[in-house]
Amino acid sequence: MARRKKIYEGKAKILYEGPEPGTIVQYFKDDATAFNAEKKATIEGKGVLNNRLSEFFMTGLTQIGVPNHFIKRLNMREQLVRAAEIIPLEVIVRNFAAGSLSKRLGIPEGEPLPRPIIEFCYKDDALGDPLVAEEHIIAFGWASQQDLDDIVSLALRVNDFMSGLMLGVGIKLVDFKIEIGRVWDNDYQRLLVADEISPDSCRLWDIETGQKLDKDVFRRDLGSLSDAYTEVARRLGVLPSNVTHTTKPTLIN
Ligand code: C5P
Repeated sequence: MARRKKIYEGKAKILYEGPEPGTIVQYFKDDATAFNAEKKATIEGKGVLNNRLSEFFMTGLTQIGVPNHFIKRLNMREQLVRAAEIIPLEVIVRNFAAGSLSKRLGIPEGEPLPRPIIEFCYKDDALGDPLVAEEHIIAFGWASQQDLDDIVSLALRVNDFMSGLMLGVGIKLVDFKIEIGRVWDNDYQRLLVADEISPDSCRLWDIETGQKLDKDVFRRDLGSLSDAYTEVARRLGVLPSNVTHTTKPTLIN
């Protein structure tokens, strides 16, 4: 018997109807996908780590006054969030060149950018989430000019918060992606940070060694993704107590 109504199933999360109107339960799966789901795997414990990490980041944002959808964590894999109409854009903020920016413009990975660069991609799996300009966003009605101004301001506040937090634990925030939701309080609409903030949607490099501690470990086959995420959670002091980390046997010659 179904416990509750499933609203949507994405690549890494399932959304269920929440217990009260205007709420949603976000369930974090262990599935990892890359390159528009061409590469897939199940990474044991990833959902638990991302649920905790997203809670940690969103709670911090609330504490500094950045509106976001997080209400409370329900259990190891689920959190209660405010229902919001998701603006169909991936908002990417970059501090250092990497990934698609490096490929597109031929800038070596790791090169500092003159200022944070914000990019927008249209959320459409069939099209591979293409990069779009503000012109497209406004002309096609995905967001207004006022929304865009608010989105840029939210994105830069998240960037400053996340960069500082990561710096404190010896990690460089290279870039990240957020999604923005629209909610109504009586007759007023406002925007908030929605979806998730986790190593699935950030590039995180160790400041000393440059070691990658994010989804690039999976995309580029650089080792254990759960080890990388566990390291981020451990440094931030948010490692859930009952995630046991098994060390793999080492061959001794
Ligand atoms: O691939 P690209 O360099 O454009 O990614 C920039 C940032 O946005 C990375 O941190 C990546 O993890 C994130 N991203 C994401 N979801 C996507 C595309 C990018 O979280 N669909």
